[in-house]
Amino acid sequence: MMSETTSVTSTSNITNTAATVSNLSYLGVHGKDLDAWQSFLTGVLGVSSKQSDTDLQVRFDEQETRLRVIKGDTNDIQYAGYEVDNEENLLAVKARLDEMGYTTELVDKAQAKEYGVIGLVKTHDPDGLEIHLVYGADIRPDKPFVSPTGVSGFVTGDQGFGHIVLTVKSMDAARQFYEQGLGFKVSDFIAMPMGKHSMELVFLHCNSRHHTLALAPIPMPTRLLHFMMQVENVDDVGLGLERANAAECKITSSLGRHTNDEMFSFYVRSPSGFDVEFGCGARTVDSDWTVKHYKSGSIWGHKR
Ligand SMILES: [Fe+2]
Repeated sequence: MMSETTSVTSTSNITNTAATVSNLSYLGVHGKDLDAWQSFLTGVLGVSSKQSDTDLQVRFDEQETRLRVIKGDTNDIQYAGYEVDNEENLLAVKARLDEMGYTTELVDKAQAKEYGVIGLVKTHDPDGLEIHLVYGADIRPDKPFVSPTGVSGFVTGDQGFGHIVLTVKSMDAARQFYEQGLGFKVSDFIAMPMGKHSMELVFLHCNSRHHTLALAPIPMPTRLLHFMMQVENVDDVGLGLERANAAECKITSSLGRHTNDEMFSFYVRSPSGFDVEFGCGARTVDSDWTVKHYKSGSIWGHKR
């Protein structure tokens, strides 16, 4: 096994171009109203949340921190953390990004620890979103997660947190960063009807989850359109919808099933204005996956 010193100092010699990110590990979002977020997280989504004066630390599986809601004036995503398998792959992905001309920074162990990981490289996607590449997340199988509202469980593990949908100004630049830089692969495309026109969304995977990331070519100041949390079964989705209605949350998209990942889900407005998709039953992808093109986002439902 390589010593830490040897592997860190040999970054420039790494020739492994096959290393990729393996899942979405965590997210950081800004919120103006932490109390509203605390109620939303524990009462509607059914996750556990530790509140401090400056943030909420959210857990919904064995990983200690999956989501951090940071008190701030914006209502958008602050960073996305993608996991790589080990230190060697972390440095390999960093070296590839460096070669491609992106700016990267290997932060010190103390700062990495603040995010609940052993190793952390920071960079930015072409639209300026802070991207974390991490390995060695803190997990607590000794203290099993128990949902405060009785959700059976969240589908995470090798599939990671869930998925996010980001707006991008340049699809070409974004795809170069996420595909060639981080190693995402295309799952499919949807030409989303927009009045008389349509908008081409691209869906990308880095493990068996159908998509961990989707990119929407919308020139908006905010980046995050929604994040998705996958629960175990239909009852978890239905009970989540009942909790959202009881809390008088805005349901931004009714129950429905998506065409591409076949997710059965609804969308609820978060206290920061972006949506949370809450669903179950998504299909998975494998190495034999064939890229397809869809002309609608949903088979049925998902009415706005
Ligand atoms: Fe989604």
